[in-house]
Amino acid sequence: MTRKTARLTIDGEPGTVELPIHESSAGPSVIDVRGLSEQGIFTYDPGFMSTAACDSDITFINGDDGVLLHRGYPIEQLAEHSSFLETCYLLLHGELPEAGEKLEFENNIRYHTMVDQQIHQFFRGFPRSSHPMSMLVSVAGALSAFYHHSLDISDPEHRMLVAQRIIAKMPTLAAMCYKHGVGQPFMYPRNSLGFAENFLHMLFGTPCEEQDINPVLARAMDLIFLLHADHEQNASTSTVRLAGSTGANPFSCIAAGIAALWGPAHGGANEAVLKMLFEIGSESRIDEFIRRAKDPDDPYRLMGFGHRVYKNFDPRATVMREACDRVLEEVGAAADGALFRIARRLEQIALEDDYFVERKLYPNVDFYSGIILRALGIPTSMFTVIFATGRTPGWMAHWNEMLSGAYKIGRPRQLYRGPVKRDYPVGRFAGNSA
Ligand code: CMC
Repeated sequence: MTRKTARLTIDGEPGTVELPIHESSAGPSVIDVRGLSEQGIFTYDPGFMSTAACDSDITFINGDDGVLLHRGYPIEQLAEHSSFLETCYLLLHGELPEAGEKLEFENNIRYHTMVDQQIHQFFRGFPRSSHPMSMLVSVAGALSAFYHHSLDISDPEHRMLVAQRIIAKMPTLAAMCYKHGVGQPFMYPRNSLGFAENFLHMLFGTPCEEQDINPVLARAMDLIFLLHADHEQNASTSTVRLAGSTGANPFSCIAAGIAALWGPAHGGANEAVLKMLFEIGSESRIDEFIRRAKDPDDPYRLMGFGHRVYKNFDPRATVMREACDRVLEEVGAAADGALFRIARRLEQIALEDDYFVERKLYPNVDFYSGIILRALGIPTSMFTVIFATGRTPGWMAHWNEMLSGAYKIGRPRQLYRGPVKRDYPVGRFAGNSA
């Protein structure tokens, strides 16, 4: 097979540099520019608009056709037939589990749901009004103190064990962040329950009252976790990889990922969507907000619209939209029905408006997830925490994949535009002897 190459012409000198091209199994091939640095040449790509930072077997996205595959399986099929934990297994191991493997994996996750009692002390230091993400980023990182000395990240079994630990403990930490804010006692995990049910139990249960978990709502919760499970090299996953490339403790890498997820351009968008829908308040005000989003002099953006990779409908949004209907029907939330109507109308207008059509700004996963979460009774400030809980297997799968192969510490270069070397002006202040 002939090896494809690209030739780089610098300053009119033809064919100065020859660069290998690597074929992908799906999606665009990439030009390997690694050899350029040896010749003192660097590429410039802020925001990684055209740069593949790694190779990966985990998730494939075709943003033009609205395709999302985990280990080859379409997200729509996983959403219909699989569960969050089975998808976690798939992301981590590369294949769907056999029945025995599935059971063993689920039992392992159950076994690790509790967090060390010392973690409870951390919460005492947080004001009740703390944003749940601020607590989550801290306590997730704090777990590294409990699992550091005995952890060998070069050992594949250790890596799998720590991945299971983190996936299992995230819902426990997430629920603790909520309970602290509302001043209720922390609920211990109940390991007879499924993953999503257990989360809802820790969130809404109290020691005084048993909580019956509605199976339709538990299934919706599981679906939300599943739809967020991975999304290839997004900002938070790339952050986890970058932190992990230094050999850092995986709990601290996850804390770094949580920090990156928090912003409204990434995981914080689900919270921002709901705030936006409330701010709009009625269908009659939609045009005003659309006008603002289109105004080049106004920084306002429609939250839940647009995506760096999807330039067609986000396939997760399609699944989420259907789930939204089911949940609203189940809970019969009249108020949220109004919210949903604003969302639907907004979606319709944006899909027809030239500004959004030309820029290929379609609703993304966060556009509907917020409405479902609210219908489940989850407060807005917890939305991004739930995104983080769902994204944890993706972060761990990428961290594990990186450490399983040859990797280098992530170290971007820069285009320096500051002052060139100059001498310190000695004696500019009286008495300055330095
Ligand atoms: N509302 C109005 N205009 C928008 C929007 C929006 N939501 N998103 C992009 N644009 C415009 C932008 O102003 C620009 O216009 P122009 O070419 O006239 O300057 C053009 O579309 C391209 O925007 P960009 O900022 O260059 O696109 P990007 O790929 O860098 O940003 C994004 C992607 C997701 C950050 C952005 O679309 C956005 O801020 N969306 C709202 C926040 C949001 O919903 N984020 C959740 C993403 S999905 C969940 C996840 O994976 O984390």
